[in-house]
Amino acid sequence: MNHVAVIGSANVDLVVEVARRPEAGETLSGSDLRTFAGGKGANQAAAAARSGARTSFFACVGADDHGVALRAQLSSAGVDVSGVGSVDRPTGTALILVTPDGENSIVVSPGANHALDVAAATARIDEWSGADMLVLNLETPLRTVEHVAAIAGERGIRMLLNAAPAALLDARTLAVCDPLVVNEHEARTLLSDPHSAFADLARRFLEQGARSVVITLGAAGALFGDADGIEVVPAFAVPVVDSTGAGDAFVGALACELTRGAVLRDAVRFATAFAAVSVQSLGAQSSYPDRSAVEEWVTSQQLV
Ligand code: RIB
Repeated sequence: MNHVAVIGSANVDLVVEVARRPEAGETLSGSDLRTFAGGKGANQAAAAARSGARTSFFACVGADDHGVALRAQLSSAGVDVSGVGSVDRPTGTALILVTPDGENSIVVSPGANHALDVAAATARIDEWSGADMLVLNLETPLRTVEHVAAIAGERGIRMLLNAAPAALLDARTLAVCDPLVVNEHEARTLLSDPHSAFADLARRFLEQGARSVVITLGAAGALFGDADGIEVVPAFAVPVVDSTGAGDAFVGALACELTRGAVLRDAVRFATAFAAVSVQSLGAQSSYPDRSAVEEWVTSQQLV
């Protein structure tokens, strides 16, 4: 079975819906507080599992109620959480404001995620090195990501790196990415290029060594490129309730499809549909559909 291993972050998301973002020094009232399972790594693992991949997650949470709840939520999504360790720091927490346009503002307190150092990440190397694909993001320490990428390069393990939040990558790490997945902001930040067309940015990532690249473009879809060229897959026009975790939904679904043997174009198409379903309800993991729901939804869109 296609096996995806995610090494990454887990957060509890504390979400308040607000009419607008507060100004500096201003106090606003919002909705009742909602609590969701989140964190880029955990979201990506949940999306891969819901898409149908056998998924293992390697992370650190606190020895607290939030850590227990995050494990339980991931288990219910079908993720193997035996690689999620407990440490003496609070579970990562994200404070999230969602505005009526579905956009969000997020502040993360990493807490236990910062305990995912090289020693913690490699403690279960025998388990994740057998996966068909490793998935990493940059909410965990960069040194850990670089170390795991080096192992992936040496052992020939396919690695998807979601460079979010944006941070500069060394050439050795970039050379293992297959694909590198970034959004518009991350693409521009990594290349220090505020103006070029996204197709040109994708070409530059490839020239710098990435084996393949995907740039998510929000309502404009997703651009992907590899040695065969560059293409854009259009987005679905959907009502956006909450875009939190949509990028992670895309990454997890993409990893699943690639390990099923899909070519990059078809994998990006499925991931685009998976993310489009996810933005239509509140929360990150709580909004992720399972595979059959995505397939039914795509069919319904084709009939419209
Ligand atoms: O990408 C969305 C995620 O970013 C949220 O779930 C939040 O936890 C932050 O990590």
